[in-house]
Amino acid sequence: MTLDGARFDLAVIGSGIAGLYAALQAHEQGMSVLVVTKGSIDDANTRYAQGGIAAAVGHDDSAESHWRDTVEAGAGLVDEHAARVLTVEAADRIADLVRYGVRFDATDGEVALGREAAHSAPRILHAGGDATGLEIELSLAGLARREGVTVVEHTLAAGLVIDANRVMAIDVFDWRALRTDRVHAYAVVLATGGAGQLYRFTTNPEVATGDGIALAYRAGAEITDLEFTQFHPTALRLLGHSIFLISEAVRGEGALLYNADGERFMPRYHPLAELAPRDVVARAAQREMAATGVDHVLLDITGRDPGWLAARFPQIYARCAEGGLDLARDRIPVSPAAHYTMGGVRTDVWGQTTIEGLYAVGEVACTGVHGANRLASNSLLETVIFAKRAVQRALDRMNDSVHADAAHHVDAEARAPAALLALTADARPLPPPVPDGPPPTADDLRALMWRCVGIERDRAGLEEATRTLARWDAATAASAPSAGSGSPSPRNGERGPGSEGSRAAPESRESYELRALITTARLAAEAALLREESRGAHYRIDFPAPRDEWRRHLVWRAG
Ligand code: FAD
Ligand code: SIN
Repeated sequence: MTLDGARFDLAVIGSGIAGLYAALQAHEQGMSVLVVTKGSIDDANTRYAQGGIAAAVGHDDSAESHWRDTVEAGAGLVDEHAARVLTVEAADRIADLVRYGVRFDATDGEVALGREAAHSAPRILHAGGDATGLEIELSLAGLARREGVTVVEHTLAAGLVIDANRVMAIDVFDWRALRTDRVHAYAVVLATGGAGQLYRFTTNPEVATGDGIALAYRAGAEITDLEFTQFHPTALRLLGHSIFLISEAVRGEGALLYNADGERFMPRYHPLAELAPRDVVARAAQREMAATGVDHVLLDITGRDPGWLAARFPQIYARCAEGGLDLARDRIPVSPAAHYTMGGVRTDVWGQTTIEGLYAVGEVACTGVHGANRLASNSLLETVIFAKRAVQRALDRMNDSVHADAAHHVDAEARAPAALLALTADARPLPPPVPDGPPPTADDLRALMWRCVGIERDRAGLEEATRTLARWDAATAASAPSAGSGSPSPRNGERGPGSEGSRAAPESRESYELRALITTARLAAEAALLREESRGAHYRIDFPAPRDEWRRHLVWRAG
């Protein structure tokens, strides 16, 4: 499909829950919408989500309690106002999903609610047992098709065209036909998901290469909190089988963790044992693996009724069976894997970035609701809460009912506590790339990140990572064929509205993704090196405790 010169009210980049929900909302409101997506429509983190989506809809639950748990999990860095928006608007967004065709599991006519770590009440809605993401993704994709929303697959956003701090258009690259088109839009929604592919071990699919973060950074938007990557403690570790998440909901149903010597180790690490915060369990598993010299620990939910297990966790049950393991009889080998990107493109509570007309929603965004550590099952919820608001804000602006201030800043009054805001004022660029040596492969990068910017970090490893990444940045920029693929690079379209500018025309999907991975890795590694403390998911062996002076966000913006 040729898109060159086409014009839409809204261009959405990505077709996970955030992108599809935003597109459906905009379509309902009468906006003309384009969705471009890198793979097939359902190739997204969303389809792999298992545990479910958090919302305080139970009889003995409240938005206040959900808010408290969210703030507590985030280890001092949660934007409390954004968390309030998240938890208060949750029930209405769940109702939207139901209206869009998502069928959540029910027991005796009441929605079934699961329990996950650090939630003080059962509040996890799930679908198809452990197939929540698949149900959501297929429902939204089916509805988008039926509603005639224009979705262009196998096409990636290669560059954002910015003029006077306003997004004007996007360059989209059909990586199968090797063609770049320029599409104009009144507003652009980045919904490109996270960056799990930065790491050698990850629960994320191949599309999760941090593209939206790199695109936004190069366009001049602010990026924050990338030192906080959530590692999930229990990914299936079976020789010859790809990594597969074993949901925290399995521990929520009583599964216990043992080391290779047969010892149940979690009570030694935290009073909540297996239901301790995710970062604590991931570090504990990593340490037990190191101590025993074995590449996994063991998850045990044996003794439960096999029929019940197969019904409650159909995907996990089947995946284990493919590997010759019976969930009801065998302990399951698991190890930690990179799972969720807490940081991302900085937005206000309307999904608005620091570039006018550019919105970021879902895992690519940093709305501030996760702080240093995301509460399980808050991410699916975050996508719809802020996608709804972003579309509303884009529509209002289009209809001129909300006026942008001249300089345009993130909705500052909405951010709290004030101390966190004051400390974000110092946005800085990445240090310049250092020309020296050949470009890496994506596997080189993943190995470096796992080793030096992984579950536990220290200065020596982080310095090695930042130095190496600066060299790789220069090496890949030198081999990149055109503007828009360097980091940081001149912004496309600087010559003004309607100007053709230089198009972002990657050579291939692989080379484009490698550039995005390097930019995102640099932002994560530089931030992890600067943050001389341990907080939430960021653990520094050389600074093992939180420090008050670091109760602040690090913000990055290309110079
Ligand atoms: P995604 O669903 O990842 O979608 C991103 C989209 O952007 C994709 O379509 C991708 O192809 C596209 N894209 C990327 N780059 C480009 C580009 N350059 N151009 C065009 N398109 C692009 N969260 C929960 O709340 N509960 C859970 O139970 C849960 N379980 C999880 C289990 C697993 C195994 C994983 C990996 C994650 C889980 N999460 C869970 C996290 C949650 O699934 C994600 O945070 C959420 O789905 C993100 O949605 P999204 O729409 O922002 O991104
Ligand atoms: C899981 O099911 O363990 C993942 C939940 C999440 O990432 O929120």
